[in-house]
Parts: sequence; C-alpha cells; structure tokens
Amino acid sequence: MSVAVILVAAGSGTRLGADRPKAFVRLAGRPLLRWALDQAFAVSGGHDLLRVVVVAPPDRLDETLALLAPHETELVRVVAGGAERSDSVNAGLGQLGDIAPDHVLIHDTARCLTPPAVFERVVAALEAGDGAVVPGLAVADTIKQVGPDGLVTHTPDRSGLRAVQTPQGFRLDVITAAHRHGRQATDDAALVEALGLPVRVVDGDPLAFKITDAGDLERAERLCAGAGVPR
Ligand code: C5P
Repeated sequence: MSVAVILVAAGSGTRLGADRPKAFVRLAGRPLLRWALDQAFAVSGGHDLLRVVVVAPPDRLDETLALLAPHETELVRVVAGGAERSDSVNAGLGQLGDIAPDHVLIHDTARCLTPPAVFERVVAALEAGDGAVVPGLAVADTIKQVGPDGLVTHTPDRSGLRAVQTPQGFRLDVITAAHRHGRQATDDAALVEALGLPVRVVDGDPLAFKITDAGDLERAERLCAGAGVPR
C-alpha cells in the first residue's frame, strides 16, 4: 500500500507570538517543521515509498526546501498554502495526482512531537479496510454544551467522547470526495462525516498535542529536555 503524508505548515502562528510562521519556530534547536518531518520519516512498515507534501507559507517556499536533507528531496514536495487550513489541505491534495497514493495522512505540523507509532496505528486501520481513521484520546474533563446565553444545554456522556488529533488518514477517493463537497472544518474527518461515511477512532498519544501558544511551546521544550521525547 502506498501512503502520502500532507504536512500542513502554512499557518501564521499568531497565537504563539513568534517573529516567524509557526513551522519555523525552533524547538530544542530544530524548526517545528523539521521535527514533524523527522517523526513522519521514522514511520516503519512495508509501505511503498512514503511521499510527503509540505504545505508551506507562500513566502517561505525556499526556506522550506532548505530544511530538507539531500536524500529527502525526491520524496518531498513543497507547495504554497492558503488563507484557511482547508485551503492548505486542498493545495496539498492537488499535488497527489501523479503520486496517486492508496492512502493519505493529513497532519498538523503544529503536532510535531506525534510519535511514529500513532502514524502506524492510523495506517494499520486503513490497511485493514477503513476509509477514514483519526487518532483520539479519552477526555478527562466533563464536557458541557453551552448556549449563547451561557447556560448549559447538555452534558454528553464522557465515556463516548474523544479529543481527536492528527495524522488523520483517508483512502484517497474518500478524502478527495470529502474536500470536493466540503466547506471549512476544524478537522478533515468532519468533512467525511458530512458525507455520511464512517470514521474510525484509534488510540492517539498525549505527545500529539498541538503547539498553539507560548505555554504549549514551553511544555514541548520541557519534554524535549527530559526523557519524554524519543529522538
Ligand atoms: O492554526 P492551527 O494551529 O489550528 O493550525 C493547525 C495546522 O494547520 C498547523 O500546522 C498550521 O500550520 C496549518 N495551517 C495551514 N494553513 C492555514 C492555517 C493553518 O497549513 N491557512
């Protein structure tokens, strides 16, 4: 089975308050995008050549290419992203025509410490026949649905809730159809759900958290300084 990974890395990272787009912010001396590439390339298994499409800020394409090791340039394509995350995903999907992978993993560069084992669990479920697969974690907090008036409208049963992460994996035809019909969504699986197609949840990992603000970056630095992140 062939697998392509779309690494969306075109966000501005405004909430991080850095002087550069988030993908180029350094964590333990390495840009977040380089971390995400290293974790993706550490994925093992008998898949055909893992191809990667990096969706980068339009004004940083050269800087993105400069992050690649010489042997990676054949496996990695770099394309300009769009205004919203969904636009960036679409730009990445647009690069897959001649690659024609069986499966596509869409991954947030901001989740750059995601262990390779999470990628492997998603791929295993795709290879077992699922058309859409997301990693998720049980939620520790009780979640309330709240109306515009600030009053609670509903308390869903916590045992059935999962906080979902990336990489989210799809059969190529499933994600292509979902994005063709879909609008903006905070995750790609929601577009598949909107088509009425099943989405499976496999185990995520706490290390797949999204680096959004300065506190998240500090947490990632602490993990990298300790024994928390295998390198
Ligand atoms: O902004 P947020 O943290 O939700 O973004 C999640 C991921 O989507 C990040 O890796 C970011 O680089 C990417 N993104 C993108 N293009 C955008 C907005 C976000 O590639 N226009």
